[in-house]
Amino acid sequence: MAEKTDGFAKGLSIGIIMDGNGRWAKKRGLPRTAGHKKGAEVFRDIIRYCNELEVASVTFYAFSTENWSRPLEEVNGIMKLFGEYLVMAYDYQKENNRVVFLGDRTALSQRHQDMMNDIEEKTRNNTGTILNVAVNYGGRQEIVRAAQRCAQRVAAGEIRPEDIDVAMMSDNMYTAGQKDPDFILRPSGEHRLSNFMLWQASYAEFVEMDVLWPDFTRADLDAAILEFNTRSRRFGGL
Ligand code: FPP
Repeated sequence: MAEKTDGFAKGLSIGIIMDGNGRWAKKRGLPRTAGHKKGAEVFRDIIRYCNELEVASVTFYAFSTENWSRPLEEVNGIMKLFGEYLVMAYDYQKENNRVVFLGDRTALSQRHQDMMNDIEEKTRNNTGTILNVAVNYGGRQEIVRAAQRCAQRVAAGEIRPEDIDVAMMSDNMYTAGQKDPDFILRPSGEHRLSNFMLWQASYAEFVEMDVLWPDFTRADLDAAILEFNTRSRRFGGL
């Protein structure tokens, strides 16, 4: 096991699939929305901890393009919580976070969209941990969008088809200009990417943990980072 030393997480880029909220609530005989509420509190604390650790960026999967198929009550519950956390997101200005929302926000309420745009604008020049929040996000949809944006430039005669390369596609992702995730963390014992950061995850390590997201602690994040620090990454080389 790697040692926790000063700066052991500094500069890392981390993706987190917040999973297990429903099971956490069920175990307690509570409605699923209670699991999301506790999960959102953990989300808030883990952001603060990432700031302390000087993590470069952290991306949270809050709502996928597929999550709309859940019961309306649950979808509304998550969106209401998201709205409450958007109000609190103005704190990120003080905490020096740059906030970026990944996903198609046009499906969200106008009020939420206005706040998302405003928060992104107000935190644009912050130099601390980048906080990416994926909402109505799908990795495949993001790749399609990037391909369409490049195709539009070809159609406009600005570039040739062969000018489209990995760097140009990356520049057309929601995470343009950011470092790819070093590792993707999925609590709750599941072993899937579930349409999360498909483009950016090419060389990410996958760290699974057997803890439900609402029970996730700072010590669990330490453990995930230490696990990542034991991995030997070769990026296709030797
Ligand atoms: C996955 O658990 C979690 C979600 C689909 C929603 C995550 C949302 C929040 C934590 C709250 C709102 C977001 C923010 C950014 C404040 P699951 O419901 O799939 O759990 P299960 O697999 O146990 O059913």
